Amino acid sequence: MFDSNVYESRRKRLRESVKSGVILILGNNEASMNYPANTYHYRQDSNFLYFFGLDHDGFAGVMDVDSGEDYIFGNDVDMDDIIWMGFQPSLKDRAVKVGIKNTAPLAKLDDFIKDATATGRKIHFSSPYRYDNLLRLENLTGIHHSQIKAKFSEELVKAIVSLRSIKDEGEIIEIEKAIDTAYLMHTTAMKMAQPGVVEQEIAGTIEGIALAHGGPVSFPVILSMDGQTLHNHYHGNTLVEGRMMVCDAGCETTMHYASDITRTVAVGGKFNQRQREIYEAVLQTNMEAIKHVKPGFKNLDLHLLAATTLATSLKEIGLMKGNIDEAVAQGAHALFFPHGLGHMMGLDVHDMEDLGENYVGYDEDVQRSSQFGRAFLRLGRELKKGFVFTIEPGCYFIPALIDQWKAENKFSEFINYDLVESYKDFGGVRIEDDILVTDDGFRVLGKPIPKTISDIEDIMS
Ligand code: GLY
Ligand code: MN
Ligand code: MN
Repeated sequence: MFDSNVYESRRKRLRESVKSGVILILGNNEASMNYPANTYHYRQDSNFLYFFGLDHDGFAGVMDVDSGEDYIFGNDVDMDDIIWMGFQPSLKDRAVKVGIKNTAPLAKLDDFIKDATATGRKIHFSSPYRYDNLLRLENLTGIHHSQIKAKFSEELVKAIVSLRSIKDEGEIIEIEKAIDTAYLMHTTAMKMAQPGVVEQEIAGTIEGIALAHGGPVSFPVILSMDGQTLHNHYHGNTLVEGRMMVCDAGCETTMHYASDITRTVAVGGKFNQRQREIYEAVLQTNMEAIKHVKPGFKNLDLHLLAATTLATSLKEIGLMKGNIDEAVAQGAHALFFPHGLGHMMGLDVHDMEDLGENYVGYDEDVQRSSQFGRAFLRLGRELKKGFVFTIEPGCYFIPALIDQWKAENKFSEFINYDLVESYKDFGGVRIEDDILVTDDGFRVLGKPIPKTISDIEDIMS
């Protein structure tokens, strides 16, 4: 947990950027897996963590914009809880640690919100992503559950995004801790990527590393020699020589800041010529994009620069042809690179995505494109000092997509389908780093994780 003044200052700034009313931030509850007492790993809501800091279920935070008072509602433990869970601090003692003196039992939240509503005050909440909180909001506000998601406060969402987008020094330290654990996860995965090893042996080992260093993982591990499937959570293949293994994995610190790193290696540790060419194309794209990061640069332009860099290399290899600027403008490169260059990262691996991707990644100046590939870009707007975001270009050979485009003769002036056919057994390559925007440029966060072919071949040998 940060010092109490960090949370006090965050709440003060949030109150100052919302005109009037009551801000309601529901913490998360435990969620059951297969029977009530057997719960999933507990994860607190990230907005609650950011403003109220307490990493415990059953709380709700309120900021009264008009009076300037903040409250935490929650129940104190009873003897049964102590018997099963051990000593638990009182709600009062917990609240003091985040600079709050007003606490009350959870049942009082109902009266508080109903009184505020009865006097015509606005209740600001963000769109819930868990159904229990959706129903709690229905009970508290009287808004029908079918309407709750749509009735979020845009004013609150914009204010939270503007605060959480800029990471302070304490947050950067946490994120770098998470990347340093990712270093161990990824270098371990590289060393294990030998023919005959089953993917789940590696996935399980690196998830264990996350847990052993704080953990858990910041999203389910993506690890596969079928890296052409972008978010492949199937880990049942036995690795074979000639395939590439994509490993996209990160962890959370105990304070829940995330890392998100992807590395791709040749199974067995020696890249063949074809793997080398595609890998170098993606690596150059990753490095060229990173080099251009600075405040004021639009991430949409960075995405297009990355697409152009990749497409230029693919033309040298013979997979693409024609005018590359025109190919990228029309979206032909998306056959190979069908996703966005990256996303914000912080307390969530896709930071603040619960608040709405367009509020986080777009603004009045940069609107989301509807073009295939570009539409999946989660962050398009101008970069600002203090942003932490990912740069994660990739090149994939997705047989079903190739078949579909080829059958439609789509972009045949830009794509050499005869050669592409022979890459259908290739898989994919993605290289992802976590970047901080500084005063005049960037810093690649964390301990550098091998990414040149020679560094990867060294560590795997
Ligand atoms: N870890 C999923 C992603 O890179 O966005
Ligand atoms: Mn990732
Ligand atoms: Mn990512």
